[in-house]
Amino acid sequence: MSEINSLINEINRLKKEKNAVILVHNYQRPEIYKVADFIGDSLELSREAAKTDSDTIVFCGVDFMAESAKILNPDKEVLIPVKEAQCPMAGMVTRQELLSLKKQHPGAAVVSYVNTSAETKAESDICCTSSNCVDVINSLPEKEVIFVPDENLAKYAQTKSDKKIIPWKGFCYVHSKITASQVKEAKRLHPGAKVLVHPECPLDVIELADYVCSTSQMLYYAKKDEAREFVIITEHGMVERLKLEIPDKRFYAIVATCIQQKKITLPAVLRAVQEGIYPVKIDEEVMRKARRALDRMLAVS
Ligand code: 13P
Ligand code: SF4
Repeated sequence: MSEINSLINEINRLKKEKNAVILVHNYQRPEIYKVADFIGDSLELSREAAKTDSDTIVFCGVDFMAESAKILNPDKEVLIPVKEAQCPMAGMVTRQELLSLKKQHPGAAVVSYVNTSAETKAESDICCTSSNCVDVINSLPEKEVIFVPDENLAKYAQTKSDKKIIPWKGFCYVHSKITASQVKEAKRLHPGAKVLVHPECPLDVIELADYVCSTSQMLYYAKKDEAREFVIITEHGMVERLKLEIPDKRFYAIVATCIQQKKITLPAVLRAVQEGIYPVKIDEEVMRKARRALDRMLAVS
């Protein structure tokens, strides 16, 4: 048996023995999919975390995703196998920066993208993900909305809402690097392909899309659409998932890699399940306040 297969077998054996569930984001390495109980986007993973009855959640993704799982399950052990798997965008707005923005716009509601710290969520009225940001914003009674931290996502949501959206200046270093000319070139090379774009991309890239969607929405769209070819504009790992799930269609990618997501490896997952590391720890009061914002989001979508 190869080393990879024996790691996979051992992780799958241990997670049953310890009543642990392994939640995996779409951008993870393909070998991590093989130990997953559920693979999905940020919203689906929050939903899975909210309903699990396992004692332990091992979260293969980045810090804010594992934190959300902990906030939704304060009494469970939530583990992230590699501490350094941290989304840089989630650190781009601090609690203090959000508090001063709130002071400048006292009548505005605060929507925080799930790609934020627990402390930022705790000062927010509601969270959103890439799959529900427009619905969340449009569900609010306020006419003004502070949106942190992703400026590209805020600009996209503004094209779908009559509210005044006040953006912050955060960005995803993976998606914001993708350019309209790269997408035009991909369309020229694959004229029959549909173009699926993640909304963390710049607006001129989004304008070239057939469909703007979260990572998992790409999978559902590609499965049911009659097109046989797709240009996928997001982190490269998504293309691996699409190829595995829909082997009879073709997927083309503009290479963009999130190195933080790739930090999770099989040996790290095995160590997490064996030794219970690294437990996610968040202040109780912060968790209580952040939970309101996450629960409110889950109620909308
Ligand atoms: P999704 O919620 O669409 O999976 O996006 C998460 C993310 O971090 C995208 O960069
Ligand atoms: Fe964060 Fe961007 Fe990586 Fe998503 S792709 S986890 S937003 S750095």
